[in-house]
Amino acid sequence: MSSNGINIAPANGKLGIVLPGMGAVSSTFIAGVEAVKKGIAKPIGSLTQMGTVRLGKRTENRVPQIKDFVPIAGLDDLVLGGWDIFPDNMYEASVKAGVLEKSLVDQIKPGLEAIKPWPAAFDRTYVKRLDGTHVKKAANKMELAEQVQEDMKNFREQKRLDRMVMVWCGSTEIFLKREAVHQTIESFEKGLVGNDPGIAPSMIYAYAAIKMGIPYANGAPNLSVDIPALIQLAKEKNVPICGKDFKTGQTLMKTILAPGLKARLIGLNGWFSTNILGNRDGEVLDDPDSFKTKEESKLSVLEHILQPQHYPDLYSNYTHKVRINYYPPRGDNKEGWDNIDIFGWLGYPMQIKVDFLCRDSILAAPIVLDLALFLDLAYRCGMSGIQEWLSFYFKSPMCAPELYPEHDLFIQLMKLKNTLRHMKGEEMITHLGREYYD
Ligand SMILES: NC(=O)c1ccc[n+]([C@@H]2O[C@H](COP(=O)([O-])OP(=O)(O)OC[C@H]3O[C@@H](n4cnc5c(N)ncnc54)[C@H](O)[C@@H]3O)[C@@H](O)[C@H]2O)c1
Repeated sequence: MSSNGINIAPANGKLGIVLPGMGAVSSTFIAGVEAVKKGIAKPIGSLTQMGTVRLGKRTENRVPQIKDFVPIAGLDDLVLGGWDIFPDNMYEASVKAGVLEKSLVDQIKPGLEAIKPWPAAFDRTYVKRLDGTHVKKAANKMELAEQVQEDMKNFREQKRLDRMVMVWCGSTEIFLKREAVHQTIESFEKGLVGNDPGIAPSMIYAYAAIKMGIPYANGAPNLSVDIPALIQLAKEKNVPICGKDFKTGQTLMKTILAPGLKARLIGLNGWFSTNILGNRDGEVLDDPDSFKTKEESKLSVLEHILQPQHYPDLYSNYTHKVRINYYPPRGDNKEGWDNIDIFGWLGYPMQIKVDFLCRDSILAAPIVLDLALFLDLAYRCGMSGIQEWLSFYFKSPMCAPELYPEHDLFIQLMKLKNTLRHMKGEEMITHLGREYYD
């Protein structure tokens, strides 16, 4: 049974996806899209490409693919571009990142070579471990934003794009707190002109995009669009935004395991998480200021899931530690260990050990694709501001100031799918199911 859904504009024409930061994640995403288009690999891990959504009662057997249910841009309509402080084209970046086998990348070489980053809006103050020459020069941060907009306008014209979205895949910037310059659009714009140190490059890109009516997602833990000025601008410009920090390896596991422990009222004494990784991201996170940004993002997850205020006997006294160690031999193939000290009936202790031999960019690439396609969908639905239904993809989901973020992966997935049902005027699924037994 369905009622009226939202009036969704069709996904006609080309969709440009622009990526500030074209390193391991971006090149793996771009190479993946090319490979899938050519039919030489499958888009594993992508909800928009492989996911389904159940509609109506279980007896109705209506389970369409998400891409057939809501109008999502097709892969053949995507045009990809972006910025980096290194001039490597996407073939060179893929080979350097070493995530994908050269034999795979060679099969799509021409398409990848054709994508070359534009010079970046960059400042070493915010990413201390990197230094590149492929950067813009400008008198102030407002001029940098204008140059970023110029790149996007040229891209839109040259590629005859119908719509665009931006997904930040740049390095993790140093830890910044929200301050006066971030509070209003006026103070932020004044800060851009006055080169306020509170404005990081990721905020410049976000501002440039939103001003042009382009949706923005933030894949890193730095504040970027998560400041009142840009949230307000997004509402004014009718632009959907979301963030922060792609939920991939260890935190993905945490948000799968912790809701399970809580569901069975298993107590927690401690959760120690450590990682070794050797890619450029690992090198950037070796700087304590960038690590602090990541640490905040990774630490917040457990507290919100376990809700110690409601379960003081189980969760009020646990130790949570997260470590990241830069270890070059591993490249992008991170190893994440978790030691989890739990307790059960009558307080008896037990342990869980997780050793996740994951591939960071392999887990992140489908997230970039889904976020770009869902943000574009939200835009065509007229949904603006923070898109909490996309929390599913983030370690530190953005949400309204009076709310706590929802971290439980399974609640996040239900929220996402219910949002799709809502868009199409389908009944929400509550899982009550009494009617099957009446
Ligand atoms: N891979 C994952 O599982 C994962 C998960 C969560 C978050 N992230 C975040 O995603 C981001 C990308 O990860 P990655 O593994 O591709 O890292 P990477 O170091 O390979 O790529 C980041 C790129 O951004 C570029 N860059 C930095 N500042 C820039 C700027 N101002 N403008 C344009 N380019 C800029 C760097 O030169 C680099 O090439 C990182 O912030 C990382 O923390 C990744």
